[in-house]
Amino acid sequence: MNHVLQAIDLHHHFGPTQDRVAVLCGVNLTVQAGEQIAIVGTSGSGKSTLLHCLGGLEQPTQGTVWLQGCDLRQLSTAELSRARNQQLGFVYQFHHLLAELSALENVALPLMLGGLRRTQAMAQATTMLQHVSLDKRMQHKPPALSGGERQRTALARAMVTRPVCLLADEPTGNLDRQTAARMYDLMRELNRGQGTSLVIVTHDLMLARQMDRCLMLRDGTLHSQ
Ligand SMILES: Nc1ncnc2c1ncn2[C@@H]1O[C@H](COP(=O)(O)OP(=O)(O)OP(=O)(O)O)[C@@H](O)[C@H]1O
Ligand SMILES: [Mg+2]
Repeated sequence: MNHVLQAIDLHHHFGPTQDRVAVLCGVNLTVQAGEQIAIVGTSGSGKSTLLHCLGGLEQPTQGTVWLQGCDLRQLSTAELSRARNQQLGFVYQFHHLLAELSALENVALPLMLGGLRRTQAMAQATTMLQHVSLDKRMQHKPPALSGGERQRTALARAMVTRPVCLLADEPTGNLDRQTAARMYDLMRELNRGQGTSLVIVTHDLMLARQMDRCLMLRDGTLHSQ
């Protein structure tokens, strides 16, 4: 098996039957090991919803998500958390860092949740923060970081466990061009160095064209670009 993530006939809707919002209407997607995929689409087309379903953060109304041969629906809550922690990295549309923890502690957290001792987790988190050029900001808490620094911290947190697949939801949404380019360089380094698959939701068409595949989410399904 050389695909890491596979979605089969995903459907998702929100709300009660009478005013149901159908967001995903039969999405099929196979992410191969080491593949880079961009997902584009207008605001409200369901990109975040799709990424949440792929990452096990949202259970689709219908359809199956396979993560390295495991049907996410078959996993208990604890197994699902473990699979997410060990196999996936998630960069949220809004960074979701814990405000009361330092950047270093935020990045070390997934390692500690995975069972690593605090000293080792802190050491690996430090290396990852150096990698995203935040070694001078490690003790800062997120409210004291700039937008770009927060996003780089969020990326370090997603990458620190060396996931097989990184799911990133507009990771450069409100960053300047140069900082955004640096974020993408970091993700591509991870892709080349560790063979991590990338699924990136973006509005940046220049970036999307540089990926192996670009898919547009429109009317609830994915279309090749
Ligand atoms: N929890 C929810 N309850 C009800 N409707 C929701 C919920 N989450 C999302 N939606 C609706 O589902 C649709 C898709 O939302 P989603 O956030 O996936 O879009 P998106 O493509 O990520 O948009 P953006 O580019 O603005 O981030 C929208 O119409 C949104 O209003
Ligand atoms: Mg979104």
